[in-house]
Amino acid sequence: MSVAMQVAAGEARKGHTEFSDELRRMIEKAKNRLVPQQTAGETIPFAAARGELGELFAVFHPQTKLADMVLPAAMQGRMARIVGEHRQMAMLRGHNLHPRQKLLLSGPPGCGKTMTAHALAGELGLPLFVVRLDALMTKFLGETAAKLRLIFDSMEKVRAVYLFDEFDSIGTERGTPGDVGEMRRVLNSFLMLLESYRGTSLVIAATNHGHALDQALFRRFDDLLAFALPTKELLAETIRRRLAMGPVKTTVALAKVAKAAEGLSYAEVVRACDEAIKLLLLEGRSDLKTPDLLLALEERRTFLNRPSI
Ligand SMILES: Nc1ncnc2c1ncn2[C@@H]1O[C@H](COP(=O)(O)OP(=O)(O)OP(=O)(O)O)[C@@H](O)[C@H]1O
Ligand SMILES: [Mg+2]
Repeated sequence: MSVAMQVAAGEARKGHTEFSDELRRMIEKAKNRLVPQQTAGETIPFAAARGELGELFAVFHPQTKLADMVLPAAMQGRMARIVGEHRQMAMLRGHNLHPRQKLLLSGPPGCGKTMTAHALAGELGLPLFVVRLDALMTKFLGETAAKLRLIFDSMEKVRAVYLFDEFDSIGTERGTPGDVGEMRRVLNSFLMLLESYRGTSLVIAATNHGHALDQALFRRFDDLLAFALPTKELLAETIRRRLAMGPVKTTVALAKVAKAAEGLSYAEVVRACDEAIKLLLLEGRSDLKTPDLLLALEERRTFLNRPSI
């Protein structure tokens, strides 16, 4: 548009007013076409629904792959199998079989639940829609159930990976103290929608508190992936990969730092590696050594154990 404007202005300067005027008219016309054709009091259902959906989820186009994740072999295998089932969905459907498509991910923070959703979408070349249920509940108090229905409708139309993150906000056991009517209604409608869902999308719910989840919920999922804090071996591998990606040379005793990292999540360890690299760069040094990383790990621990304010 701005190039066309410049051309029009240039032509006007050269005295080609007729041509310049025609260009300007064309630009005006094109601009009008860009604004939604909406007059007062008139709504366009499709556009409105799209706008509404935009408030309900964040969209990603992940490049993450399963191989980017450090996981116990059994977990890698299960994920690869899910991907395989989705790649061969048409064949399976031909035999009236369905790929595992409703997954529940549980486990402590920073152990790869959200990353798994990204990696599955990345492997399948599908967009990832992330639905934050807590945000949904606060933002649309009283109409969350209706919004959920809208999301499930979209799942029928747009094949993608749908992640219901922070699922705890509705997934906790029905009837626990502090439970409000709204929560119960939302959970019930989620269960019904999930149960009747037969589309081709992958539906993933992630929670920190698998144990607090309702039994009725488990039944509705095709697969349950339980994440755990990484072992020493997995920690060593996480650190090795992260340092290899970084911009500095490293001479680190992996087994030693992995031992020092025990009890921390993948996320914390990745962060400690980044902090150590940053410090090194700021100090103008070029070789990351074991003590640098031990210090960064210690810092993360202190940070995590800080007394509540
Ligand atoms: N299995 C893993 N392999 C490699 N890196 C990991 C793994 N798990 C987590 N990470 C690192 O930690 C970061 C945070 O992980 P992620 O967001 O998946 O945690 P989460 O389990 O969803 O935590 P939360 O419960 O807090 O949402 C990732 O972006 C990644 O850098
Ligand atoms: Mg997460």
